[in-house]
Amino acid sequence: MDFLTRSKPSGQPQSSGPAPYRVLFVCLGNICRSPAAEMVFCQALEQAGLQGRISCDSCGTAAYHVGQQPDRRMLAALKRAGVPYNGHRGRQFCRADFGRFDLIIPQDEENRGDILSLALNDAQAAKVQPMSRWFGPRSAYAEVPDPYYGPDSGFDEVVELLQDAVARLLQELKGKIGA
Ligand code: 4NP
Repeated sequence: MDFLTRSKPSGQPQSSGPAPYRVLFVCLGNICRSPAAEMVFCQALEQAGLQGRISCDSCGTAAYHVGQQPDRRMLAALKRAGVPYNGHRGRQFCRADFGRFDLIIPQDEENRGDILSLALNDAQAAKVQPMSRWFGPRSAYAEVPDPYYGPDSGFDEVVELLQDAVARLLQELKGKIGA
């Protein structure tokens, strides 16, 4: 199955419009990179008027920070970039997420390996596409770097990288959903 093919869990009530295309961003702790990707993407969706057509969420491969707000350094970096906090709380990735989302985007190669190790078939594995797929052709990065143990400037770098990647992702999804 093409990773961008829509799927809808069986038994879900049909609404009048098309089901939203569902995107899940994943990192390790779900307090820095993936909630930032979610909030940057959420803002881009609102600016494009596509909130009803595409939905997003984020989670972590680890359970360390379940129920917690994003790291205050990431919230500060997002605020500096003009990206509002949407109230997200940490949660852990689980196998059911393969059915709940159309596209699952790990932020680094370790996250990607951890998610793929849980996939039960090729269709699930095909939904997993690295964030680096939407980096610019001259990007200095091979993955979204983990800013957790570094300086505050690392959080600003991640937000900038995500803003660029998310714009490319949204362009691709617009084509996919015919928006
Ligand atoms: P994230 O960053 O995966 O981008 O949320 C981290 C958050 C917490 C830890 C590591 C990375 N930690 O070791 O607790």
